[in-house]
Amino acid sequence: MKESRVYLRILELSDISTTQQWINDPEISQIMGYLPVKSLKQQEKWYLSGVDDNSRYIFAICLRENETHIGNVGLGNIDYISRNAQLSIFIYDDKYRTQGYGTEATKLILDFAFNRLNMHKIYLRTSPHFKNAIAMYEKIGFVKEGVLRQHYFDNGKYTDKLMFSILQEEFLSQKLAKLN
Ligand SMILES: CC(C)(COP(=O)(O)OP(=O)(O)OC[C@H]1O[C@@H](n2cnc3c(N)ncnc32)[C@H](O)[C@@H]1OP(=O)(O)O)[C@@H](O)C(=O)NCCC(=O)NCCS
Repeated sequence: MKESRVYLRILELSDISTTQQWINDPEISQIMGYLPVKSLKQQEKWYLSGVDDNSRYIFAICLRENETHIGNVGLGNIDYISRNAQLSIFIYDDKYRTQGYGTEATKLILDFAFNRLNMHKIYLRTSPHFKNAIAMYEKIGFVKEGVLRQHYFDNGKYTDKLMFSILQEEFLSQKLAKLN
């Protein structure tokens, strides 16, 4: 497999002011379902509350060529008994999207989830109109599990959420197939 153009590193406290600006951008807060307008103090508090919390990991997605931090990818709600976790990802600036960086970052975090944390299943929720996100998840091997009807209230109306997931065995068999 060719080397990724992106790498993941754990999000640091020093990244929080950038991340706070990103998540306060209406486009990102709406897509990601974050409550808008988080102060820097609130964001720092949120970050510090996660330092000793093994139920979530947030990584910065960075370009190998110049170390630019282009977005975040994370695992949340990690359940070490059922061995599953919820994935979330965003690349902030449009200019870094649809160039394959999201695919690479997602594969890296799946590798971490399945090969390091020994997760059994990684799942996510997305909206039917996020065509590029859905195309990316399906390309990677996520399978649509179902529809959460009128699950998300946004801009005065309820919208559906789609559930996708990938199992450890599916990811690992794909990886082996690619090496052959
Ligand atoms: C979703 C996101 C992480 C994907 O990362 P990315 O780097 O843009 O995605 P990639 O380039 O790796 O792959 C996207 C795929 O969608 C395809 N695509 C792009 N626009 C599309 C569209 N309108 N319809 C269908 N497919 C589309 C691309 O061609 C690409 O497939 P390909 O590699 O086979 O050509 C990124 O676009 C993003 O952060 N978007 C905003 C936040 C978001 O939507 N997060 C997910 C919430 S669930």
